[in-house]
Amino acid sequence: MKEQLEKIRQEALASMERADVLDKLNDIRVAYLGKKGELTQLLKGMRDVSAEERPKVGQMVNETRQALEEALEKKRAELQAKAQEMQLATEVIDVTLPARKHSFGHRHPNTTVLEEVERIFVGMGYEIVDGPEIEYDYYNFEALNIPKNHPARDEQDTFYINDNIVLRTQTSSVQAHVMETRKPPIRILSPGRVYRSDEVDATHSPSFHQIEGLVIDKNITFADLKGTLLEFSKELFGPDTRIKFRPHHFPFTEPSAEVDVSCFKCGGKGCRFCKGSGWLEILGCGMVHPHVLEMSGIDPEEYTGFAFGVGLERITLLKYEIDDMRLLYENDTRFLKQF
Ligand code: DAH
Repeated sequence: MKEQLEKIRQEALASMERADVLDKLNDIRVAYLGKKGELTQLLKGMRDVSAEERPKVGQMVNETRQALEEALEKKRAELQAKAQEMQLATEVIDVTLPARKHSFGHRHPNTTVLEEVERIFVGMGYEIVDGPEIEYDYYNFEALNIPKNHPARDEQDTFYINDNIVLRTQTSSVQAHVMETRKPPIRILSPGRVYRSDEVDATHSPSFHQIEGLVIDKNITFADLKGTLLEFSKELFGPDTRIKFRPHHFPFTEPSAEVDVSCFKCGGKGCRFCKGSGWLEILGCGMVHPHVLEMSGIDPEEYTGFAFGVGLERITLLKYEIDDMRLLYENDTRFLKQF
């Protein structure tokens, strides 16, 4: 018995000595001191020991157990300290590193300008309405007095889903939708994305945005159109802004005009920004053509109206003095966060 105990003790101490991680040490504890461990098994053999020997053997077993437990505890503390040291060495926190930056989102300049335009027109009693970007040829062209083979289609070539469905080339396509479904008085503003098969350059993109305005009521005249656009221009470009109407042609308005605002950089004297002219072109407009009203079920004898269409990018570029439209689409935050 004594030799057996001594053997177990030597073996256990030797394997503890070899243990290099805490897990292994635990295995050793289980192997010798656990319920089915060697020392525990030996204790069960006490039955065979004679009565007078028993206390002595018992004491020896306890001594061995105590010795092993002490050795285990010592080794455990040692290994734990080593593990912690390793952890400290590998998981270094450099408190001098700069903190990770949280960058906040930012409104796109187009969005800022659109919200400003919407605010101005909502202030004049307009309602914002939406229209489909994938549009029937009818709403994009026919209902706007642009029948098949009309030369105006040349300038607005687009992407065709099929013969009857296109990606809309202008937000004017919303006009007929609104006129068909509502009774005058109508006073709406419809912003949205439009498409044309244009090559990308500093002033063109196959996809851009327009803002359409449409007013229909009794006794609407060109004077209403003029007053409205003057008010809009003053709010957007400053109170001293003047506007100028240049005769133009659009198939869906008669008469039609293009509108220039006095250059907000030089006040109209002429500078590099307005290329010496003193004026900046901002939109197209006119009195809604009687035939357009008629096609959408509105009696042109009873009602008249005006419409206008603004290029959103055009205004954004002017307002922020950006010289290349592509900058608006590249999502370069170094550019975008300046506005
Ligand atoms: N839709 C025209 C374009 O894309 C712009 C326009 C001109 C809209 C005159 C109008 C308007 O409503 O009356 O060139």
